[in-house]
Amino acid sequence: MNIGEDKKAPLGVWGRYLITAALPYANGPVHIGHMAGVYVPADIYVRYLRAQKRDVVFVGGSDEHGVPITIRAMKEGVSPQQIVDKYHAIIKESFEQMGISFDIYSRTSNQVHHETAAAFFKKLYDEGLFEEKETEQYYDENAKIFLADRYITGTCPVCSNPNAYGDQCERCGSSLSPELLINPRSTLSDAIPVKKKTKHWYFPLQNYESWLKEWILEGHKEWKNNVYGQCKSWLDNGLQSRAMTRDSNWGIKVPLPDAEGKVLYVWFDAPIGYISATKELTPQWADYWCKEDTKLVHFIGKDNIVFHCIIFPAMLKAHGNFVLPDNVPANEFLNIEGDKVSTSRNWAVWVNEYVKDFPGCEDVLRYVLCSNAPETKDNDFTWKDFQEKNNSELVAIFGNFVNRTFVLMHKLCNGKVPPLHTDVMDETDRILIEEIKNAKTKVENCIEEYKFREALFEVIDLARKGNKYLQEKEPWKKVPLNPPSGGAFESDAMVNHKLIDNCIHLCLQLTANLAILINPFLPFTSKKLLHMLKVVDKILDWKNAGKIKLLSVGYSLRPPELLFRKIEDHELSYQVEKLRSGSIKSEPNNEKSEKMGTNDKSTNQPANKSTIQYDDFAKLDLRTGTIVSAEKVEKADKLLKLLIDLGFETRTIVSGIALHFKPEEIVGKQVVVVANLAPRKMRGIESNGMILMAEDKEGKLHFINPDDKINEGSPVT
Ligand code: MF3
Ligand code: ZN
Repeated sequence: MNIGEDKKAPLGVWGRYLITAALPYANGPVHIGHMAGVYVPADIYVRYLRAQKRDVVFVGGSDEHGVPITIRAMKEGVSPQQIVDKYHAIIKESFEQMGISFDIYSRTSNQVHHETAAAFFKKLYDEGLFEEKETEQYYDENAKIFLADRYITGTCPVCSNPNAYGDQCERCGSSLSPELLINPRSTLSDAIPVKKKTKHWYFPLQNYESWLKEWILEGHKEWKNNVYGQCKSWLDNGLQSRAMTRDSNWGIKVPLPDAEGKVLYVWFDAPIGYISATKELTPQWADYWCKEDTKLVHFIGKDNIVFHCIIFPAMLKAHGNFVLPDNVPANEFLNIEGDKVSTSRNWAVWVNEYVKDFPGCEDVLRYVLCSNAPETKDNDFTWKDFQEKNNSELVAIFGNFVNRTFVLMHKLCNGKVPPLHTDVMDETDRILIEEIKNAKTKVENCIEEYKFREALFEVIDLARKGNKYLQEKEPWKKVPLNPPSGGAFESDAMVNHKLIDNCIHLCLQLTANLAILINPFLPFTSKKLLHMLKVVDKILDWKNAGKIKLLSVGYSLRPPELLFRKIEDHELSYQVEKLRSGSIKSEPNNEKSEKMGTNDKSTNQPANKSTIQYDDFAKLDLRTGTIVSAEKVEKADKLLKLLIDLGFETRTIVSGIALHFKPEEIVGKQVVVVANLAPRKMRGIESNGMILMAEDKEGKLHFINPDDKINEGSPVT
């Protein structure tokens, strides 16, 4: 089947819009990966819909149940409620500060939610839609708790890693089950887990398989490739019953008489949280959830696809009376400085810290995350790129255009909107007017198709065109020089005056357009623009975009405000250093991809590699070499490009030591090189080998080199 076809969704207007953003687990703050993948795109879409005067509600909230929360509470010696209270408040505040404009930000520990989720379960139960099954599961008799696979560790049967998890060995990558581990132990109490019988209620997903195939594979070919593809692979592999209850005392009690100590599975209750939050928001909640002309859109990260595209829709279908999602524009992941985000290793940029470190720069983060959003593939956030996008796009293009326009208007037009003289308009003016109109159409088409990066690019591009226009018109060169009266001079001066008016007039109208178009993306900036233009919010109505009669002639405007400031190098180095020093080291390549906030494994384990034979060692060609040159690799804070003299040849080796050594201080040093390592491309540079370094317990790197200078290329044996 050809997935790419038939993707164009009609731009029809729906009766209502119900927009949800994944409920983050309340067991930690939110980081920029969450923002880029879920909340910034959702907010852009919602602000756009509001500007279009559509009937929209935007719901969100904290996901406060689930095993990681109980375990975290246990480890910290507090109650789960204390954990969720703390993080719910932090998360909610971060969203407010970043301008994520939820109509309601609720939480799943609320009474309404408990009732709604329990009633949902009860209805399916009463209709006989669950299977009741008794199985054996691992149990920790000390902690008195059933153990999910990843809370069991033991020795890997494949590579002897003593700290393999019950579901996977992170050293060799083998996928495991707890039975396969040698000496299994509970991570909670170190007890040896025992098998114990337990009864649960299973939802037979296979009964919905053919309906799901029809609905998604036939009916939603317009879904993004990454989403459609994941759904297809789940459906092609065949669905199975899934337990919708768990043994725990934290969560929503299973509403049945014989269910002591059982709660709803967190992935059963959490999505119902969207319904509960809407109930809390408005008595009209059922209009949004039950009327067929509602467009329901779930914004999520890729690790949530199966839950929002398969399990939750099957639940909604089984329950009946609810609308199904029209689209689920899931994003991929955002990496940071080349490594996967990991909350357990603290490799993350936390939103609550960002807003403290960069007050007034909320829109900058929104900008960078949107223009670099992982819409079709995983993407990388680097502080360098953050600085560049700010300095050379927001400051140098957008801010610069608005500032020049305002300064010139005050200087050449008495601080007022000058008239437009149609008699002296030329082709350049007409093209600009056309561009303004086109920008509206382009931006709206992109947003309706969830292509927010492209939409934002179009807005910036319009500002870029404004700059080009100013550059061509050069109104500052046309200032009349008090010409002698009479004759050709006077009429020249007159024309010049009109040309200045036209140029500034159009630039101001363009600025008003920018305020409207940028509003969904950078709401704080848009507000500043409205203030400078002395116009009210009403102008942000989307149907005003594309027009060039937004500001009336003769209207006086305020002085320019600084929209964006430059981000300095020292701010960057501070952030990079903070990221590096706050993170716990581990083998990043072996780490499993981070589930949105769920990963709470401590990966800071002592190295304890398994025994190798002499033959394994003999395969290594270790040589001494001398560093003959070293330079930074562009856009990679950690990397140095080294030229190493090995006697028999000079090699390029890219090494991740840039945060430890300055290039100039290591030139001339001798090093030990793994000379026969397969070449690898890093940032477009082919690296031929690796240099060896020792790392002390502070994480500082030290050279390992011969104590006297020896010939380059000497074998190390
Ligand atoms: N808490 C989940 C996560 O962070 C997302 C839940 S979305 C919901 O991955 F739909 F279930 F609410
Ligand atoms: Zn292993």
